[in-house]
Amino acid sequence: MSLLRRLPPVLRALLAQALAFAVLVALVRVGLRFPPLIWVLLQAVLAVFLSRWMALSSRWVFMQAALPFLVRALWGAPIPAWVYLALFLALALIFGGGLLTRVPLYHASRDAWEKLESLLPATSGLNFVDLGCGFGGPVAHLAKARPDGVFVGIEASPFSWLVAWLRCLPRPNAHIRLGSLWRADLATFDVAFAFLSPVPMPALWAKTRREMKPGSRFISHSFEVPGETPHRVIPVKGRDGARLLVWDL
Ligand SMILES: C[S@@+](CC[C@H](N)C(=O)[O-])C[C@H]1O[C@@H](n2cnc3c(N)ncnc32)[C@H](O)[C@@H]1O
Repeated sequence: MSLLRRLPPVLRALLAQALAFAVLVALVRVGLRFPPLIWVLLQAVLAVFLSRWMALSSRWVFMQAALPFLVRALWGAPIPAWVYLALFLALALIFGGGLLTRVPLYHASRDAWEKLESLLPATSGLNFVDLGCGFGGPVAHLAKARPDGVFVGIEASPFSWLVAWLRCLPRPNAHIRLGSLWRADLATFDVAFAFLSPVPMPALWAKTRREMKPGSRFISHSFEVPGETPHRVIPVKGRDGARLLVWDL
């Protein structure tokens, strides 16, 4: 079970649907016959049950319940195949990075941007990096608020990178790079910010300690570094428990 829980939610969701479908196939093989809608209902109930067992969140469980009905509704509908392909490609571009990195795409609130701003050193010429900048909200906001600084966003997902790049185009002091945060050299930054997930935090902490210079600052949105007490914790608006954890290195 713990192995299952370590799988990304999307894989657990697919597995739940596949297992539910396998049960349905077994029932057909032993000779059970129902109207199509009952099969769809059965698939949904089993998928929900398995999703709960696999500790998926309520949002996922809701989608798991709806999926069989959606598939049934679209079955045989005159939708050209390229629409499905385009949808798949769009989803892969937006969320594909998250599948590989186990970091989903969600955004820091405006309140978090403003509190981040108050955590920047007052000195002119500061260098800031958002490790996994998503759609570039924090970088765009800070670059506007502090024209005397340089603000870098690094993003692995091509679609998110494009959105962030376009969003930051009007800001000459903002630079959005496409690539992995693990390849970035953090030595040049005075402040590094990350809003990722619990998974990469130990490795990211090791990287900041290795590369960032004394006197610099590491800020994690919401996710702790196991065994490392932050110097400050600043609650921010957003999801339950949203906060900025600040370490002065
Ligand atoms: C939770 S979002 C945060 C977005 C933004 N920093 C914010 O606070 O609004 C995390 C982002 O990190 C990106 N990401 C995850 N792992 C990454 C990696 N290894 N290199 C670069 N980006 C990564 C994801 O694609 C996602 O867009």
